[in-house]
Amino acid sequence: MALGPRVRGWLGRWEPRAAAAYRALFFDVRSLARAAAAWTPATRILEIGCGEGALTDALADAYPTAQVTGIDVTPRVGRLSRANPARVAFRQVTLDAFWPDHAGTFDLAVICDVLHHVPRAARPHLLALAGRTLRPRGRLVLKDWARRPTPIHLMGYLGDRYLTGDRVRYASADELRALVAAAFGEGAIERELRLPPWANNLALFVKPRPGEREGAGA
Ligand SMILES: C[S@@+](CC[C@H](N)C(=O)[O-])C[C@H]1O[C@@H](n2cnc3c(N)ncnc32)[C@H](O)[C@@H]1O
Repeated sequence: MALGPRVRGWLGRWEPRAAAAYRALFFDVRSLARAAAAWTPATRILEIGCGEGALTDALADAYPTAQVTGIDVTPRVGRLSRANPARVAFRQVTLDAFWPDHAGTFDLAVICDVLHHVPRAARPHLLALAGRTLRPRGRLVLKDWARRPTPIHLMGYLGDRYLTGDRVRYASADELRALVAAAFGEGAIERELRLPPWANNLALFVKPRPGEREGAGA
């Protein structure tokens, strides 16, 4: 059962503020956008599983001259975005349907807090297709809520499970690293950060190894 639609109805015009405050309890989205911009320049950015646009907007701010595309399977894609539509575009589309027309296009692909909503067996495929959207020197940021035996982890699980209604499954930090190695080659993780306010927020900054960009696991 998903409580999200009911909660959104109750909040009315307060929803954007409430959504931002709720997210901030678990993750500072701006810290990821800033860390990405400090790591690599980019003029074309793809956010895969962008949801209502919180991180997409932060990416547009952190990369003030970039074109940012957010895609998601949800009909609410980009709904809470306040970004300039001349620079930020949203599409409701699967990555399977999107990538063939955008192969080798993006400098940077970002997948943030999506993987735990994706069935385990489908994760290698998602990463492999993300790699196919990248230009030859393109890079990828994979951020997820890594499983840890802490009270905040339980709160995060309950929020995800009952607000979205999804059967979420969190990977451990080692499982996330192994997924990246399988898709993009051993040694592809150039940088790894724990982002505020909780150590669960693990970001892997990935430079696919030559020959691995098209995704070994597709
Ligand atoms: C927690 S939200 C994260 C939104 C955004 N990335 C952010 O950090 O603000 C997870 C999103 O993943 C999306 N999602 C789940 N499975 C997906 C898939 N296979 N392809 C694309 N998006 C997916 C959901 O629709 C949801 O909007």
